[in-house]
Amino acid sequence: MTAAVPGFLEARRSIRAFRPDPVAADLLDALVAAACLAPAPHHSRPWRFVTLTDAAARAALADGMGARWRRDLTGDGVPAPEVDALVDASRRRLVGAPAAVLGCLTDDGLDRYPDEARQRAEWGMALLALGAAVENLMLAATDAGLASCWVAAPIFCPTEARDALGLDRSWLPEALVLEGARAAGSRKVVFAGSGGTLYGVPRSIPTPERHRQQPIAPYGVSKKVVIEYLRYYREVHDLEYTVLALANVYGPRQDPYGEAGVVAIFAGKLLAGQPPTIYGDGKQTRDFVFVDDVADAFARAADRGGGMVLNVGTGVETSVDELYDLMAGVLGVEGTPRYEAPRPGELRRSALDAAQARLQLGWKPWTSLEEGVTRTLDWFEAQSP
Ligand SMILES: Cc1cc2nc3c(=O)[nH]c(=O)nc-3n(C[C@H](O)[C@H](O)[C@H](O)COP(=O)(O)O)c2cc1C
Repeated sequence: MTAAVPGFLEARRSIRAFRPDPVAADLLDALVAAACLAPAPHHSRPWRFVTLTDAAARAALADGMGARWRRDLTGDGVPAPEVDALVDASRRRLVGAPAAVLGCLTDDGLDRYPDEARQRAEWGMALLALGAAVENLMLAATDAGLASCWVAAPIFCPTEARDALGLDRSWLPEALVLEGARAAGSRKVVFAGSGGTLYGVPRSIPTPERHRQQPIAPYGVSKKVVIEYLRYYREVHDLEYTVLALANVYGPRQDPYGEAGVVAIFAGKLLAGQPPTIYGDGKQTRDFVFVDDVADAFARAADRGGGMVLNVGTGVETSVDELYDLMAGVLGVEGTPRYEAPRPGELRRSALDAAQARLQLGWKPWTSLEEGVTRTLDWFEAQSP
């Protein structure tokens, strides 16, 4: 990517907590007009939009769709209290938003084919066009200072949604967009996850987020469990989250006794004129990312990347030997480290693919290992008596 993404695209965020202030009907109409400017196959307009400003209409829709979801979840064997929590949270979200727009698909203007395959393709085109129209609507809402959230529910129960609102039988509800002003101070947790342990023994390096999550250390398991809790709280209690799966973070103020403190430990030893100990052959690799770059990722995640796990690392593997050589070189220290038996359960290689963080947060690391290590050593040196 060379040019910057236009600001109005970056400004759109899915928001699930709205202020109760009503949304003016003519503003909703303007959003629908923006939606209708979307590209559609052969100049068709295969959509109908229903604006829902009346709380009773949103309650009827929530109840109709909720009854179906309740049946489906119960049929899936989900325990009753969990079903209640999920359905209630979804209803609260829809009724609590000051306005909603329901996008329906119609066959108005679509071509007809004698065979099922081409007819299905024609419907597929129409659905893509409806998706583009919904995106237009959400971007226009952002431009007007409104927040929005696309809710998947109607696509799973179009008939129930249509019946709840008494819509024409030829309209097929597909997409629901909640609209309103963003609630001030809506809560979000940005959690420091462990990219170094989340994936277990990596099958590919640099490791992307879609890699299976199979930690092989208690530390990684407990971090992973927190992600499960965050998913639950987002689903049921509207608490937004982003998990930053961190590589090996290092930098000034690092605690040499804390987790993954190899840079700090080496700094302490080298400055004291003692040889550090390397466990194993020193060829094991890690992805060292500087603390300033990581702090920037946290700041960016404050209002972006909702509901996601994003790797924060450099994608570069550096062996512990290379790290030692670099640090000793910066300090002009001669001599060799001590080697001891490897510690059980340690990964041989680790590096994270942060392409998603770049896309979702506009983040990438900018501090080279040499610069970061130099600044870390400067800080430790300034601390020594
Ligand atoms: C087809 C579709 C269905 C979605 N359904 C839901 C939903 O049911 N509930 C919800 O909270 N968010 C839903 N979302 C919103 C996504 O969770 C959200 O877009 C995603 O987290 C990315 O965040 P962003 O929109 O802020 O970039 C949906 C998005 C799409 C495109």
